[in-house]
Amino acid sequence: MRSLLRPLVLAVAASCALTNLASAADSLKVADVVSAADLKAMIADAVSGLEKLVADEKAFAEADTRVRNSASVLAAFAQAASELEGASLSPEAARTLRQAAQDLAAAKEFGPAKAAFDRVVKAANGEAAAEPPAAIEWGKVARMHPSMEEMEQRATKLRRSLKRIRRPEEDAQMAASIGILGLVTYGDTHEVKDPADLPQWQAWAVELQEGMAKTAAAIREKDAAAATGHFEAAMKSCEKCHEKFQD
Ligand code: HEC
Repeated sequence: MRSLLRPLVLAVAASCALTNLASAADSLKVADVVSAADLKAMIADAVSGLEKLVADEKAFAEADTRVRNSASVLAAFAQAASELEGASLSPEAARTLRQAAQDLAAAKEFGPAKAAFDRVVKAANGEAAAEPPAAIEWGKVARMHPSMEEMEQRATKLRRSLKRIRRPEEDAQMAASIGILGLVTYGDTHEVKDPADLPQWQAWAVELQEGMAKTAAAIREKDAAAATGHFEAAMKSCEKCHEKFQD
């Protein structure tokens, strides 16, 4: 009897393990995290913020890592636009913007940064490159360090704003921006050394995306208590993931 059951038990266990992997949390879709109207405003804000940082050589030098960080966020917004139905930019213009923002994020000198920023402006105005860049995966949109730093800074600002919601539009967009960076986090799994940990990584990234999407929705309802609840729940996923994966 034992010898007959054993293979069966093993087979069931194996298929459970497989289902576990297969049912690892799917990333949210862009449309679940941000609306086309919000994304349009967020892209415009990001571009005008960057404009000041690359206004001249002095501003660029003083901005230090803020150019890299802000351009990384803009690249993520552009990636979102490239996947969002009804986005203000065509997928071709959105991919052109994503590439230009990535080039700006990588620029070490003022000259190349300024050139990349000029391409950012054109693409943000809807002009696609003659040969638009191909689509890329979320995990390749921004480097982990700047996107984590931006999530941290944005979360700190948002936590303050949630005490009393004065600018629901702005605050909801701030929450949505962290949700979009959560799509980058989901895709960039290079810190996961053991493949068995992948579903856990993804689950926490999805928790973050969902929590920030709910935070944004509650802000729109001007429900500060609900927004704070969703926000703090989302922030728990940061902590849990750091505990396991941050070295
Ligand atoms: C799914 C996993 C995961 C989630 C979710 C996550 N992080 Fe991280 N975070 C990491 C890992 C891994 C590192 C370490 C990266 C490294 O060592 O280069 C890190 C590093 C950081 C850093 C240090 C900067 C750096 O790159 O070393 C900050 C700040 C940070 N995270 C903030 C946040 C905030 C804020 C949230 C939530 C809004 C968050 N993270 C969500 C995995 C995650």
